[in-house]
Amino acid sequence: MITEEKVLEALQGVEDPEIHRSVVELGMVRNIKIDDNKVQLDVILTIQGCPLKVKIQEDVENAIKALGAQEVVVHFGTMTDEERARVAALIRGGNTAPGASAPNGGTVQGHGAGLQQISPLLAPDSKTQFIAVTSGKGGVGKSTVTVNLAVSLARMGKKVGVIDADIYGFSVPDMMGITQRPVVVENMVMPVQRFGVKVISMGFFVEDNSPIIWRGPMLGKMLRNFFTEIHWGELDYMILDLPPGTGDVALDVHQMIPQSKEIIVTTPHPTAAFVAARAGAMAIRTNHEILGVVENMSYYINKDGQKDPIFGSGGGEKLADELQSELLAQIPLGQPEPMRDEERYGPSVYQESELIGAIYMELARKVDQKAGITV
Ligand SMILES: Nc1ncnc2c1ncn2[C@@H]1O[C@H](COP(=O)(O)OP(=O)(O)OP(=O)(O)O)[C@@H](O)[C@H]1O
Ligand SMILES: [Mg+2]
Repeated sequence: MITEEKVLEALQGVEDPEIHRSVVELGMVRNIKIDDNKVQLDVILTIQGCPLKVKIQEDVENAIKALGAQEVVVHFGTMTDEERARVAALIRGGNTAPGASAPNGGTVQGHGAGLQQISPLLAPDSKTQFIAVTSGKGGVGKSTVTVNLAVSLARMGKKVGVIDADIYGFSVPDMMGITQRPVVVENMVMPVQRFGVKVISMGFFVEDNSPIIWRGPMLGKMLRNFFTEIHWGELDYMILDLPPGTGDVALDVHQMIPQSKEIIVTTPHPTAAFVAARAGAMAIRTNHEILGVVENMSYYINKDGQKDPIFGSGGGEKLADELQSELLAQIPLGQPEPMRDEERYGPSVYQESELIGAIYMELARKVDQKAGITV
């Protein structure tokens, strides 16, 4: 027989897709009525017009049907400001509580709820490994490398975040095929999840792709907000996609996250490597460890299956030598295979089954070996 307890127990396993906590724990489930095999209930959403309402409905229905219910009727409502504040306090508290993100609604032992001046990610005891992806010049593939490294680490089961720190020239949302905007709960912004990666980008906060016209100090402030105002939860890796060159934002990142390690992207042409060396020099001068070099657009596989080095060769190796570091990967030219399934498609995301996707998996494994925190 279906009972209210059984329904609640089943719904413990259903998470709010944005907040990643059980809908029961968040107080979203109310008024369960059971009439033989028909179950009715209210689900109170954190915000009106929640874009993921359909997903929540599906998950709730499936969980209850698994108990043997023939019919499930979900009535949706929206939280009051007070209720939302309670959810925000719960999330904030859980942010610092060890084990708070335990699946199936383990109790949240919040401490210091709501009092976070600095992001726990940046705290000295943070377990998150920061990796900044940088280059000497533009258009060499930093954003592509960021996105695919992040997705590959997530495929390995890591908890990964991406900050698109290219505030003027944001491109990560587009590259990953993200059309959603972040949900905001009581001034706390939930990063958007795509392919298992949590993403935040300036692109989420501007209207209609309009240009950003801020000066230096505002950029730094925005970057800081990306840490403090965003609910990241626990992360193994935070990958930062930097703007090209050695400008303000790159410097801010160096100062804000002294523990960050760096990957330097270059193309194979020796001149490109020469320019990239400047980004490397900046890392060294600011005491950032260089994880290694990624050479992108290394070669093209021609129709005879031969590697054709159309942009020259040797740049990655030369740069790695110069920085006394390692050439982590050589990535050939090629676009991801087009796909009909929008759920699985991002214009710059390679599938694991593709050659370039497999090379990125190899890169992720190397990065995890070199940078991963072994407990
Ligand atoms: N291996 C590759 N094969 C084919 N195209 C690629 C490859 N890597 C990157 N590209 C393409 O090259 C262009 C530049 O890449 P990307 O935007 O990643 O570079 P970037 O270094 O982040 O640029 P910016 O300095 O403007 O931020 C993009 O259109 C991207 O799709
Ligand atoms: Mg870029």
